[in-house]
Amino acid sequence: MKIFRTIREMQKFSRQQQRMGKTIGMVPTMGYLHEGHLSLIDAAKNHADIVIVTIFVNPTQFAPNEDLASYPRDFKRDSQLCETSGVVAIFAPETEEMYADNCTTWVNENELSKGLCGKSRPEHFRGVTTIVAKLFNAVLPDVAVFGQKDAQQAAIICRMVRDLNFPIKIIVSPLIREPDGLAMSSRNRYLSETERQQAPVIFQVLQAAKIDIEQHGLPNNPESVVNSIRTAIEASGGKIDYIQIMDNETLKPISATTTEILIAVAVFFGKTRLLDNILIR
Ligand code: PAF
Repeated sequence: MKIFRTIREMQKFSRQQQRMGKTIGMVPTMGYLHEGHLSLIDAAKNHADIVIVTIFVNPTQFAPNEDLASYPRDFKRDSQLCETSGVVAIFAPETEEMYADNCTTWVNENELSKGLCGKSRPEHFRGVTTIVAKLFNAVLPDVAVFGQKDAQQAAIICRMVRDLNFPIKIIVSPLIREPDGLAMSSRNRYLSETERQQAPVIFQVLQAAKIDIEQHGLPNNPESVVNSIRTAIEASGGKIDYIQIMDNETLKPISATTTEILIAVAVFFGKTRLLDNILIR
């Protein structure tokens, strides 16, 4: 497995592979890989001849008060996991390689990124779309895989790829859970023992709401679903950032054209902000 630190080397390798007729699947990550990331690598393998994983803790998607400095990193373990998962190359640049000192160009998605996480993290998605566009230009993938865990991020990336005509197919891969239902995340390690025991309530209530909607349809007043999710999570010690029921593609309220309903939540247990969501077809 190869490890590239510069954009030039990365592009050279990708172009060589493409000249040999190979399609490239890219899995963008911030490292500290877990089962969820490995499932994205598997999805990429199913859609492309070779898989390249990017590992870059992107400073521009963290606000000054967020966990950039303490974000977990373990490159040695990540590269071992990539190697055993059949990844052909890792692109792991330093910050200076990705951002010039006087960098003044940004990629902004102006609709989907305003609500949900965008409300409490106003600069976050500008950082995500900018770095993903830059990583696309470095890795030159045919296919890129994102996790459903970050449903809003996935919708924004699909919109960016459509709007900026990137010749890249986006695959959104299902969310992977711990055996007790907690959505896998690199940030789960911040939870105390008690918080870790409380947090699976998120999945339990989302799953109960899904079963209810599948059996009885969405009530005329979706707020009643939101309220029952809120009550159950708060009773288990969680503090709600948001709970929203919406159209999975537009992230707008459910309408006659909705084919997939998304219920998305962001919840604090202690200082740790956890994201989760469930899709209802
Ligand atoms: O989902 C993530 O890990 C990050 O937001 C991404 C897509 C790698 C961009 O930094």
